[in-house]
Amino acid sequence: MLKLYTRLLQTKAQAKIKCMPVRNVQVSVIGAAGELGSNVSLLLKQNHKIKRLQLYDDDEKVIGAAIELNHLPGGAIVSGFAGDDLNEAIRSSQLILMVHRIPRKPGKKREAMIAANAPSLHKLCRAMADENPDAFLAIASNPINSMVPFASSILYKYGIYNPFKVFGITQIDINRTRACTAKALKVSSNNLFVPVIGGHSDETIIPLFSYMTPVEYTVDPCQADSLTHLVRKIGTEIVFRKQGTEAAVAAVAWSINEFCDSLIDAINGNEVDATCYIANPYFGTRFFAGHSTIGPYGVIRPFRKIPLNDYETFLVNRSVPIINSDVSLGEDHVKILI
Ligand code: LMR
Repeated sequence: MLKLYTRLLQTKAQAKIKCMPVRNVQVSVIGAAGELGSNVSLLLKQNHKIKRLQLYDDDEKVIGAAIELNHLPGGAIVSGFAGDDLNEAIRSSQLILMVHRIPRKPGKKREAMIAANAPSLHKLCRAMADENPDAFLAIASNPINSMVPFASSILYKYGIYNPFKVFGITQIDINRTRACTAKALKVSSNNLFVPVIGGHSDETIIPLFSYMTPVEYTVDPCQADSLTHLVRKIGTEIVFRKQGTEAAVAAVAWSINEFCDSLIDAINGNEVDATCYIANPYFGTRFFAGHSTIGPYGVIRPFRKIPLNDYETFLVNRSVPIINSDVSLGEDHVKILI
């Protein structure tokens, strides 16, 4: 009896070890001294799968931010790098997270931010070519619809482009859709899920309410239309409300952290489903966002066409030429910088 009990305890202990996340991933955060970067770094510090967190920024104050994060009990070992130390900051990281951004001003569209945000992404791609061509690159800098093709073209020019490892982070659109829909339906957002596809801009975010779960929740066509408009415009509304000082920070940082957690699980050998804007040939564009399957070597299966209702089909058809023009904007910008 005692033997049986001991064996049971051993099995339980082994199962627990198997379930315990292994702290083995190194993540670099580029733009970590900014308001968004600081929030993302704080959230990542709490991720039990991250062994080392490498914070980089042009601004020297990132060194102070790193020292401070090390004063929090437990979590990843945090190091700060500034100025010329970008190569060192990304050395050996499995995941490189680009969160550097100049926040847009009220009245500006995301597309207008390419000239402001592209140079730091270009610098990062150069450093990746020299130092760490195999890392996953996840980009949160706007305009995401153009920055992912921009980075892809640069990495291609440097001979290290892997289309399966370059991601635009669009998780914020998932969370905004959940929150707005839950509020409209007067239910909790906890279990509610609505897939969001397309891109990340006021004209290309496409929530698919026909695939909302739990299936008992439904919205009528009029609600679907007004919720789509609400979700599309909410980032712009926050920029306006913050009067040009910042764009959305807390919810964007939270969403980036959620997406990173999925990528870390993928890096650790799991197949995960996550929404992101990636190279995708299935929609008449070269890049498209949607629910994709990701594994240790990158994207396994990008989002593919599924049956859509008339309204969703209309939104997809209208977004494709816009995404194509955003992609060209990103690719053409490479010629300006290289
Ligand atoms: C957002 O949607 O909040 C971000 O893309 C930031 C911005 O400029 O709107």
